[in-house]
Amino acid sequence: MAATKQVNIAIIGAGGVGKCFISQLTSLASRRPNPKLALTYIATSKKALYSLDHTPLDLSSILLTLPSSTQSPLPLPQLAEHLVSSGTPTILVDNTSSQDLANSYPLFLKKGIHIVTPNKKAFSSSYTLWTDIFSAAAESGAKVYHESSCGAGLPIISTLHDLVDTGDEVTKIEGVFSGTMSFLFNSFSPVSGASSATWSAEVRRAKELGYTEPDPRDDLNGLDVARKLTILARIAGLPVESPTSFPVQSLIPKELESCSSGDEFLERLPEFDAQMEEVKAEAEREGKVVRFVGSIDVVKKEVKVGVEKFDRAHPIAQLKGSDNIISFYTKRYGTNPLIVQGAGAGGEVTAMGVTSDLLKVLREIA
Ligand SMILES: NC(=O)c1ccc[n+]([C@@H]2O[C@H](COP(=O)([O-])OP(=O)(O)OC[C@H]3O[C@@H](n4cnc5c(N)ncnc54)[C@H](OP(=O)(O)O)[C@@H]3O)[C@@H](O)[C@H]2O)c1
Repeated sequence: MAATKQVNIAIIGAGGVGKCFISQLTSLASRRPNPKLALTYIATSKKALYSLDHTPLDLSSILLTLPSSTQSPLPLPQLAEHLVSSGTPTILVDNTSSQDLANSYPLFLKKGIHIVTPNKKAFSSSYTLWTDIFSAAAESGAKVYHESSCGAGLPIISTLHDLVDTGDEVTKIEGVFSGTMSFLFNSFSPVSGASSATWSAEVRRAKELGYTEPDPRDDLNGLDVARKLTILARIAGLPVESPTSFPVQSLIPKELESCSSGDEFLERLPEFDAQMEEVKAEAEREGKVVRFVGSIDVVKKEVKVGVEKFDRAHPIAQLKGSDNIISFYTKRYGTNPLIVQGAGAGGEVTAMGVTSDLLKVLREIA
């Protein structure tokens, strides 16, 4: 079999993660001349750059040339046709959070186009989409990797696959899966017990420091954590139907769900500080702290997301800053879980997970 001389790369999304990925890809392409990594398509929601004959684009200047492009993104079915028409192995890098693109993964994979992505949507929506993706990949032999869809660049998904594939019995997965929630609770309920700030003041501070979404309700509703749990539960063998098919505790008071903006929500949040204060005080009376965690009890087939109390010495209580921590309890590891901990958000570390996924694909196809 002739060695693959070139692999084409198509990138969709050039925001926080996409920009870092492009920088990492530029460096990788210069360090790793064989196979040649050729960027042949790039798009954001409104702009695109590509040529009908798949001429490689200049990676080093792409972020300067893309904004002034007059080309529009190809509709997804047309894009799949276009990429396949090159006759060259192609990796699609989805750096968006687009549900439409996620829904189209089976289409790309069926045509033999490999996919790497930090986008959670494809793997945490309906269980049907999940099975369609992996059966399309199995049918065509196309590869699909999504390490950064949980815990950014932390080796969470690859670790879980290794545990499962080598025949260990995963009994429970537990952890702090959101950098925002980690930051909020580490400050609000510190192990030192020294916090004097109210819950609403902590939320406001987290927003000002850029740790929350523009509307903090998008973090506080717990859905982001539920999506990550859905992905891990499915890899562990539980056919979880969707991120809303198990209990997820929202930290948005019912009365504030209908606020018309994030700012209005923040203005009214102090009215509910007493509730969170009581949750913290109850934990303190037991010598504990509160943390927002997700857990998967594989044996009981139970998945849940919400606030829980932890002894001050527990690794989850000891977390710092906005770090994530994920503990894998397995038969082999016994009572001391395998723990992965570190930054679970940020452009560079998330892009690192995407770039390492791309390297995995290259190892398998080139
Ligand atoms: N940032 C993190 O720390 C982090 C951590 C883990 C996972 N992730 C995941 O990584 C992905 C990217 O995150 P990000 O922070 O880079 O987001 P971002 O800064 O909002 O960038 C998103 C990019 O995708 C483009 N885009 C959105 N919808 C599109 C569509 N339908 N078609 C084409 N392009 C589209 C946007 O283009 P326009 O600007 O034209 O809209 C933008 O370039 C998300 O799935 C996120 O959940 C991020």
